[in-house]
Amino acid sequence: MSTPELDGVRAIVTGGASGIGLATATELASRGARVVCLDLNTEVPAPLTGVRCDVTDKVSVEEAVSAAARILGGLDAVVNNAGIGAQGTVEDNDDDEWHRVIDLNVVGMVRVSRAALPHLRASDNASITNTCSIAATAGLPQRALYSASKGAVLSLTQAMAADHVREGVRVNCVNPGTVSTPWIARLLAKADDPEAERAALGARQPTGRLVEADEVAYAIANLVSPRSRAVVGTSVAVDGGMQGLRVRPAGS
Ligand SMILES: NC(=O)c1ccc[n+]([C@@H]2O[C@H](COP(=O)([O-])OP(=O)(O)OC[C@H]3O[C@@H](n4cnc5c(N)ncnc54)[C@H](O)[C@@H]3O)[C@@H](O)[C@H]2O)c1
Repeated sequence: MSTPELDGVRAIVTGGASGIGLATATELASRGARVVCLDLNTEVPAPLTGVRCDVTDKVSVEEAVSAAARILGGLDAVVNNAGIGAQGTVEDNDDDEWHRVIDLNVVGMVRVSRAALPHLRASDNASITNTCSIAATAGLPQRALYSASKGAVLSLTQAMAADHVREGVRVNCVNPGTVSTPWIARLLAKADDPEAERAALGARQPTGRLVEADEVAYAIANLVSPRSRAVVGTSVAVDGGMQGLRVRPAGS
């Protein structure tokens, strides 16, 4: 039997208890990695391990990353995935909400990376993969704050990649389109007509459907793989063609 692709890889996934994070942790584990999920919620299915972590709290992050490194015997891969949404134009969210979302979506990744880097430098296959979004590269309505946070994640990914490439730490990100996760389910539940809203979100993507969480997980696991050693400082779109394609509406 051949050795699994990610055999021996020790990984942490923030926001690993739900949606894209849980799918990613599961995909990494299925390829042979050992995975600790850092999340507010510690309930994750075996063989994953849950460690409580609030990415907005420096002490919580430092304790959780240390605990994960202790459990795993070191760290090779960090998946910075925890994030929250925000809706509205610049007129709709007050300063506190701006600080809250940027603190979680951007500074959260900084805190986790900072705590993990000393461990990653000791690995011979080190990577940080950030969950960015198509909101970083396309102007979407009613997403001013969320888009600004993900635009920052894209730039942060490139800057970190430059800073750490010579230390052997590869930094990349994935840019999902709209993904069918509990987050989107919560968003749809607030709509006047959830089914019509779901159809509209799907129709926005050239494939005509939402992206699945395991499709994003697959792309992240490929970036974590040592077979992607030459992939550094880039963003991988997993968006059903939404960013790059201009197709005719279905049926025309
Ligand atoms: N769902 C989408 O359409 C979509 C599209 C593009 C990018 N993304 C990005 O993907 C990532 C995950 O989104 P999802 O749809 O899987 O969301 P989700 O709501 O299903 O899962 C998010 C997880 O993050 C955890 N979390 C929230 N705040 C936290 C904190 N302070 N500390 C630690 N963990 C915390 C939650 O407990 C939850 O388990 C986010 O960064 C999001 O911006 C999502």
